[in-house]
Parts: sequence; structure tokens; C-alpha cells
Amino acid sequence: MTATVIDGKAVAQSIRAEIAEEVKKLKQDGIEPGLAVVLVGQDPASHSYVKGKVKACEEVGIYSEVLRLQETISQQELLQTIKQLNEKPNIHGILVQLPLPPHISEEAVLDVIPAEKDVDGFHPINVGNMVIGNDAYLPCTPHGIVELIKWTGTDLNGKHVVVIGRSNIVGKPVSLLLLQENATVTMCHSRTRNMAELTRQADILVVAVGKAHLIGREHVSPGAIVIDVGVNRMENGKLVGDVRFDEVAEVAGYITPVPGGVGPMTITMLLANTVKAARAQSRVGDEVKG
Ligand code: GUN
Repeated sequence: MTATVIDGKAVAQSIRAEIAEEVKKLKQDGIEPGLAVVLVGQDPASHSYVKGKVKACEEVGIYSEVLRLQETISQQELLQTIKQLNEKPNIHGILVQLPLPPHISEEAVLDVIPAEKDVDGFHPINVGNMVIGNDAYLPCTPHGIVELIKWTGTDLNGKHVVVIGRSNIVGKPVSLLLLQENATVTMCHSRTRNMAELTRQADILVVAVGKAHLIGREHVSPGAIVIDVGVNRMENGKLVGDVRFDEVAEVAGYITPVPGGVGPMTITMLLANTVKAARAQSRVGDEVKG
């Protein structure tokens, strides 16, 4: 194997230690950051993600609460529940775990979370601010990916990044964040022709499709950084990425494993956004002039 494995867990741990310090200081000022997570239905993957988020909050001293709601809840009732959370001053961040049951409009739900409590970075106001490069709550997985690439010491200026996948949660926003870092970004998706020809030109390849083992050695140029965002559960229960790890690690310069790559960074960025929200809503640092 030639590639250096990017240990997302270790990078996440070091950032979480800094966040824990920040939380400690905020608490000394009487501010306890608080996150509410709304979980609808019984999707096992969603339950597992939410468990991870709650545990991470505990580790850094962030207050969290989970609202577990029945799959059959009406859209109206869900919107009402979120509106009630919006009123709680001890809750600085609100996250509705996706996907939602088919009878509920994701758009309507994400719209009702106020932009200043939208620690997922999914509200159109945050998306718009991100697109134009203004301060915003950045979506957690894309932000975590940028941090992992920076961790390798790579200067993104002028680098050719190829992103595979165009979802609103990962592909589109990570492309924009990398563009903001002065990378040259190519986006590939299900209708892209001759994809391997494009991906072989990448200095950095970000794969966010959700298809186990889609990407192999033939897609990767020697020395490239490969970021695997896929989390696919095989029939034997094993989690695998979108990248054939063993063969790509023979040619890549850096590669993220699954699990233990991007996943821990996603949660870490959520913690960072929650602290940012608590600070913004408490106006720490503002002086009363008069
Ligand atoms: N489902 C998969 N990824 C995410 C995420 O980052 N946030 C939320 N809320 N739901 C998800």
C-alpha cells in the first residue's frame, strides 16, 4: 500500500478537544450550548447516527435532547413540534435527522428551523450565504471533508478536485466550499460520460454516491487524495465505502477509510456549529455601550 490513511477519528478527536475547551469557557460565562435532535420513525441507520451525535455532545459538554417521534406523525404536528423547540432559549441548535417518512416534505421541515438555529446548514438562507461566501452555518459533512483535506497539508489553490455525486447534502455544497478555497472543481454524476477519464485527472477525488465499491484503481491517478463519503451496509452487516479501499490504496497518496474517515468529522462539525450558535445567540463578546 502506498497511500497514507487519513485517520478521521484522530483528527476529529483533536478538534473535539478544542471544542470541549471552548464549551468550558462558555459555561464559565453562564452559557451552556444546547442541541435538539428530532428523530422521526425507526430507520436503524438514523437511530445509530443520532446516538453518535448525542454521545459526542456529552463528551464535549454540550447539552442535548432527542425527540423521538412516531413514523405516523403528520407534517403539521412535526412543524408544530419544531416551532416549540424554536422558542426554547436553552436550545441553540436544531437538527431534524433525514431522511423523513415519504408523507412529510423535507423542504417544509427544513424551512421552519430558523437559520440561526440551523446547525445542519440546510436552510436556504445558510445555503445562499455559503454560495456567495458569506458567514454561514456550513453543512457538516462538506465542512468536515474540507478540514480533512487541509489536514494532509495540501494547499487547495489551483488543485483539480473531482466530486462524484451531486446531492444537496454533500456533492453540491462540498464543490462550492472547495471552489471557495480556489480549487478547480469538476462535478460528476449519474449522467456523466467517460467518468474515469475525468477522475484520473483529479489531484483530489471526493466520492459521495452511496454505491458500494463503485470506484477502483482505474479511476485514480497516482498520488491523488481520495475522500470516500459513502457508507454502505453489506449483507454481512459490514460497512463499506464507495471506494474499493485495498486496490485504491495501492495508487493513492492519501485515502480515508470507512468507517473512521469522514463520519467522525461530520459529527465534529455539528458540535462546532452548535457552539457557534450558542455564542451568536448569547452575543458573547458584545459590550453593552451606553
Ligand atoms: N442524514 C444523513 N446525513 C445527515 C446530516 O448530515 N444531517 C441530518 N439532519 N440528517 C442526515
